[in-house]
Amino acid sequence: MRDHGLDGIEVLTGDAADTANYAGAVPADLVLACGIFGNISDGDIQRTIAGLPGFCASGATVVWTRHREPPDLVPAICAWFEASGFTARWVSDPRAGYGAGAHRYAGPVVELPPDERLFTFDR
Ligand SMILES: C[S@@+](CC[C@H](N)C(=O)[O-])C[C@H]1O[C@@H](n2cnc3c(N)ncnc32)[C@H](O)[C@@H]1O
Repeated sequence: MRDHGLDGIEVLTGDAADTANYAGAVPADLVLACGIFGNISDGDIQRTIAGLPGFCASGATVVWTRHREPPDLVPAICAWFEASGFTARWVSDPRAGYGAGAHRYAGPVVELPPDERLFTFDR
């Protein structure tokens, strides 16, 4: 990283579903949930989104991805974000050929449970 001029970045190789691996890194201003929602069950997506406030500083942005293959789950994902205290900053157009969004967290800072499993890749 330093060779590329990226000082102050710590890389952790570990299980992204295990909240214990985020100790010391949360609450964060920018949270990337990319390359996850296309590989886990709808229930795990909903549970992961419900847990995202625990990753967020007040005003944080979560950037997420999900394909648009039918049945298009992006509208449900947006609804789950809103139910968890987020507002949409941007969501890709359905005709774009991909699904991505940025949601802002305006709620209070909440503690991330230290030993919770958020999702399991099943595809
Ligand atoms: C769909 S790819 C996304 C790669 C990258 N994040 C992106 O957006 O381009 C998913 C990757 O997550 C890895 N993966 C699966 N389960 C994981 C977990 N629990 N923790 C961390 N990585 C996991 C897979 O091995 C795979 O390399």
